[in-house]
Amino acid sequence: MSRTRLADRTVVITGAAQGQGAAEVEAAAREGATVVATDVLDEAGEKLAAALLAEGLDVRYRHLDVSSPDDWAGLADWLRGRGHGAHGLVNNAGIPMRARLGDVDLADWDRAFAVNTTGPMLGIQALAPLMGEGGSIVNVGSVAGLTAHHAVAYTASKWALRGLSKVASLELAPKGIRTNTVHPGFIETPLMATANPVFQQAHLSMTPLGRTGTCDEVAPLVVYLLSDEASYVNGAEITVDGGYAAHGGVKAITNALDAG
Ligand code: NAI
Repeated sequence: MSRTRLADRTVVITGAAQGQGAAEVEAAAREGATVVATDVLDEAGEKLAAALLAEGLDVRYRHLDVSSPDDWAGLADWLRGRGHGAHGLVNNAGIPMRARLGDVDLADWDRAFAVNTTGPMLGIQALAPLMGEGGSIVNVGSVAGLTAHHAVAYTASKWALRGLSKVASLELAPKGIRTNTVHPGFIETPLMATANPVFQQAHLSMTPLGRTGTCDEVAPLVVYLLSDEASYVNGAEITVDGGYAAHGGVKAITNALDAG
């Protein structure tokens, strides 16, 4: 049976060439969406779109640096020119920036905000005018945006993204556009593959489910939030983290009790 929860809808996904973005492209396309997959990794993005097109799915790739107002304006013009509105926007692109508070330099701090916070803001400014009743914006935050975390620029930029999401859920709701945030925990992607193994192990030891998550465990939630099944879900923040953020550090205590 074909799945049609996003039939006749155009969905733009950023950071779509790999990792969670690529899984979200495929999941949305399999639900009938016309997906505009965007990234700065053009070769990987083109390859993904070509593979899915070959399966009969409606996926196009476009170069888009989320920190570039010109790129967003170009995408909005292109969508208008094709007679497409936009139904969905998934602000998924993100960069880690792992320096700690004593070491972070201003250029890295600014870049983390440019991609992780300003990018989603520019995307909302560019595409919300193309959306109407039933529009849906999904911002991809992080458990780092719910707690203290060692990567200071990343953490602060993801906390700021939560503020942007809350404002959008207020400002855009009168147009029938919903804005929600997904907070992944440790998801196996190229981004996490580059993380310090000590961090990876420590993160796992604080994850109640005791394992990493996969991109295919995040994408269905994004599809749900894009769809009308979530028609009264607005301003929500949903973790996909195996319970990492829920215990507020108490797992260190249960770990110690279990060990001793
Ligand atoms: P990834 O590194 O595998 O993919 C991120 C994609 O964003 C890449 O394709 C990259 O080229 C693209 N990107 C980077 N800068 C860009 C820019 N300026 N413009 C457009 N695209 C750009 O990362 P992953 O893990 O798939 O991350 C997706 C989202 O999930 C990010 O927002 C990340 O912060 C968040 N996240 C990931 C976690 C994980 O464990 N993997 C944990 C918590 C949050």
